[in-house]
Amino acid sequence: MSKIFVDACFAKETPYTPVWMMRQAGRYLPEYMAVREQAGDFLSLCHNPKLAAEVTLQPIDIVGVDAAILFSDILVIPNEMGMPLRFAKGEGPIFDTPIKTKEDVDALLGGIEAANKLTYVYDTIKLVREQLDDSKALIGFTGAPWTLATYMIEGRGTKTYNVVKKLIYTNPELMHSLLSKVTEVVKYYLEKQIEAGVDVVQIFDSWAAALEEDAYFEFSWKYMKEIARYIKEKYPHIPIIMFPKGIGSYLDKIDGDFDVFGVDWGTPIELAKEKLGKKYVLQGNMEPTRLYSKDATKEAVEKIANVMQGKRHIFNLGHGILPDVPVENAKYFVKLCQDVTKK
Ligand code: CP3
Repeated sequence: MSKIFVDACFAKETPYTPVWMMRQAGRYLPEYMAVREQAGDFLSLCHNPKLAAEVTLQPIDIVGVDAAILFSDILVIPNEMGMPLRFAKGEGPIFDTPIKTKEDVDALLGGIEAANKLTYVYDTIKLVREQLDDSKALIGFTGAPWTLATYMIEGRGTKTYNVVKKLIYTNPELMHSLLSKVTEVVKYYLEKQIEAGVDVVQIFDSWAAALEEDAYFEFSWKYMKEIARYIKEKYPHIPIIMFPKGIGSYLDKIDGDFDVFGVDWGTPIELAKEKLGKKYVLQGNMEPTRLYSKDATKEAVEKIANVMQGKRHIFNLGHGILPDVPVENAKYFVKLCQDVTKK
């Protein structure tokens, strides 16, 4: 059965513009909070295929999106490469022993061995695929090597990126050896997600904006393109979505073998259309805090729909939905995107 979401990724005609929301399986849903409670904590939920499959499917039933995104986290990758990970209340993810030296990089588990440890992810995918309606797509994902390596070096979220940036300017070889090692794991990881049943893959480069232009292409985009090329050659029927957040001023230099470009909320959709709209399908990009108000949501959805004209577009937010958004407003957003673009 053809899936409207996959068709839209390949720029085929669809009855309306499909929609999903980044971070759609999460804390704004009381049903998610109940399952997380049952699992014990967030990481235990990621490690439990039955419960992870349940929360993956929740937004399909509750808010009516056209695609489910695998419930997991980008940081399970470094975790399985050998770095202990914990989520501290109010602080987010923490690696207590960040990467500092060449010996630290060499000690990480790499390649297929690391990818093979993520069995709970592949098991979740198989369970979701059994329960998900054939007309809906399942999106698999990874973090970009740059975003993952940043966490591995900083050890936690950062405002200045000073530790990782000191490394790229004082020891670029070490940074590249880490990025290459993560890239290898990510290739196998996405491949195994596809073999388990995902229909689409998205690469999240959440920390793209930390780098100036030349550094971005050297330390991040190059590796994202390498991953996309690898997947495209083996699985041409699987659409690839790239989401580098905050690089709106480098759009002229974006190229590569992928299908959909995720536009963040800081980049005007008209600009993205002008620069990339002929080469790629665009995904996005409502400012996520507009979801606090139905009027603000309506204004943005109509504007985006008017710019994109129902062509080469997938509706989404320009970054993740926040935990205190009313579920009713999320439902309103999804239905409105589908209704205003109906042909
Ligand atoms: O989109 C989805 O619904 C699928 C699940 C998903 C999660 N994380 C679940 C999650 C996805 C795709 C991610 C990706 C992810 N994780 C990114 C890239 C996307 C982005 O938002 O930029 C990043 C940078 C991470 C790392 C991470 N994980 C952070 C910084 C945090 C804390 C954030 C916060 O708001 O507290 C997490 C935890 C996390 N990942 C939660 C969820 C639902 C919240 C955990 C909880 O239940 O308390």
